[in-house]
Amino acid sequence: MGQLYGPALVQGRAATSLKLRAADALDRVAGRHDPLVPPRRLQFVGEGDFVATGDEFLGHLVELAGLEPGSDVLDVGCGIGRMARPLAGYLTTGGYSGFDVNEMAIRWCREHYPAGFRFEVADLHNARYHPSGRQSARQYRFPYADDSFDVVLMASVVTHLLEPEADRYLAEARRVLRPGGRLLATFFLLDGGSRAALQAGRAALAFRPGGGPVAVADPDLPEEAVAYDVAWVRERVDVRSIDPGAWRGEPFGARSFQDLVVACA
Ligand SMILES: C[S@@+](CC[C@H](N)C(=O)[O-])C[C@H]1O[C@@H](n2cnc3c(N)ncnc32)[C@H](O)[C@@H]1O
Repeated sequence: MGQLYGPALVQGRAATSLKLRAADALDRVAGRHDPLVPPRRLQFVGEGDFVATGDEFLGHLVELAGLEPGSDVLDVGCGIGRMARPLAGYLTTGGYSGFDVNEMAIRWCREHYPAGFRFEVADLHNARYHPSGRQSARQYRFPYADDSFDVVLMASVVTHLLEPEADRYLAEARRVLRPGGRLLATFFLLDGGSRAALQAGRAALAFRPGGGPVAVADPDLPEEAVAYDVAWVRERVDVRSIDPGAWRGEPFGARSFQDLVVACA
């Protein structure tokens, strides 16, 4: 399909925006409006149903990462609250902190969540999500003290980080987790199964693994999708379980689209 440029592009965007606004208006009329669901035009965090994906991950957090209503949770790369929304109905004495490079998303969350939910902006460069970011994520220190959280979530975040940044983020996740705490992170893992699926053209993303531990789907925009060798991950965190995702082209029985990795502090 050819790309649209100039007036056609503007018209195309206006038509899409109108459609999204109409769908939001329909929700309001039908009484389906949830104040923690942002308007569709602000939902930049991926395809799929915003509410269903958040609900799905609440289930993973409880079943795989031992989340309890009293847990303190860190949501790394929290976006516009897709994971925070179900947590708002689940956490009781527990606390929620999230940070992201997208200032608009953090502003929206701050305006819509209760005070106990804390959101921070990190002005970090990411070619896909924040090309004008002024700092590198490679040396970023998460703005929390050591041993602050029972659960750290990285949902579809490491899949957009290059190797030095992903390395740093896994180390920081370990630092802020309490002893006994759990990290739940999604990955595109390179292992025997996924390499075979990639070779057979069955996988949903066309990673081109070379000899190294990292592969990208689009060399022109590597942060669009980054895959890591499973051994690289195991060298950095104490992996407790791996649930292979549907991206490998064998969707039956997969818990999620991406691979789910649970690790302990
Ligand atoms: C696919 S979205 C997922 C958002 C959220 N975790 C969710 O599942 O709804 C990827 C997110 O990572 C954020 N991001 C990219 N680079 C980041 C970085 N270095 N630190 C924190 N967040 C980052 C993006 O702004 C975006 O919100």
